[in-house]
Amino acid sequence: MKPIREQLLGDLARAGSAHEVEQVRIRYLGRKGQITTLAKNTDFRRMSPDERREFGRQLNELKQLAESRIAEAFEAVRSRTVAEPAAGKVDLTLPGTGHRVGCLHPISLVQMELEDIFQGMGFMVLTGPEVETEYYNFDALNIPADHPARDMQDTFWLTNGMLLRTHTSANQVRVLERFGAPLRAIFPGRCFRYEAMDASHENSFYQLEGLLVDRDISVANLIAVMKALLSEVFHRDVTVRLRPGFFPFVEPGFELDCQCLICRGKGCSTCKSTGWLELIPCGLVHPRVLEYGRIDTSQYSGFAFGLGLTRLAMMKFGIPDIRLFNSGDVRFYEQFPAAV
Ligand code: PHE
Repeated sequence: MKPIREQLLGDLARAGSAHEVEQVRIRYLGRKGQITTLAKNTDFRRMSPDERREFGRQLNELKQLAESRIAEAFEAVRSRTVAEPAAGKVDLTLPGTGHRVGCLHPISLVQMELEDIFQGMGFMVLTGPEVETEYYNFDALNIPADHPARDMQDTFWLTNGMLLRTHTSANQVRVLERFGAPLRAIFPGRCFRYEAMDASHENSFYQLEGLLVDRDISVANLIAVMKALLSEVFHRDVTVRLRPGFFPFVEPGFELDCQCLICRGKGCSTCKSTGWLELIPCGLVHPRVLEYGRIDTSQYSGFAFGLGLTRLAMMKFGIPDIRLFNSGDVRFYEQFPAAV
């Protein structure tokens, strides 16, 4: 068996291509190969039981060695061909194929930045379902079936009675039920409204809802958090103001405006000459909503806000048309720097 072994190793050392290694494999391990036929050509009758056992052991060893060495030889020629293409066959003047590196969607970039900021203020980041029940999207938010507020949001209804959530506020009562008070959480996500599309309306857009419930929470806390947030997003001190705004699930409710960052309040085309940008609807959580969430309103109060992520991304990056977000045009997506 020793000569076969030496011969095999010699043959393998000379095999320079996959084809040649395969020839070696056939010569030794193929159906009529030297190792395969070794047992057949041996006269066991002339051996003692001990000799036979020894023969079997050596044959097995040889077979295993052959198999592993042949596998190694295949691997070696394969990596050699990949690493050193035959000389003369590579044209180094050809342009490279290049790799297309993916990029993050501008809304993802803004969302990730906001998540960082809120996590720094002790908020949890949560998500909720896009297909919602009427209860969480409307009823539990103090918007009963006959309430005119339901007309504000034209809804995509599913045939099973569920709906595509019209706002991330749908997650408020879910979160209250699940975590109780005190609570600090944001829940970014996609929302849907049955709307005609134009440069500033989409039927699918992103919001980032925030909810804070604790003892002695007032409008002052709300303003402080909103100011801290906007200063971080826009990398400068911002001036904000509150105007009354109506949402059935907050009381009092506000529209939070930010002094126009372009003209600093003097009036320009971005702020339509008003000096202010309408940014964040918000307010103190309506006690009835807290009750739906099984919160003890004699102990706790809170604030909520619904930041339009899509709108914020448009302002931050100066994107003029909302339809670009869902356009699928990679040239648009590629323009936004990962580190905003
Ligand atoms: N959910 C409201 C909207 O979409 C915004 C909002 C959220 C208002 C939280 C107040 C508090 O339009």
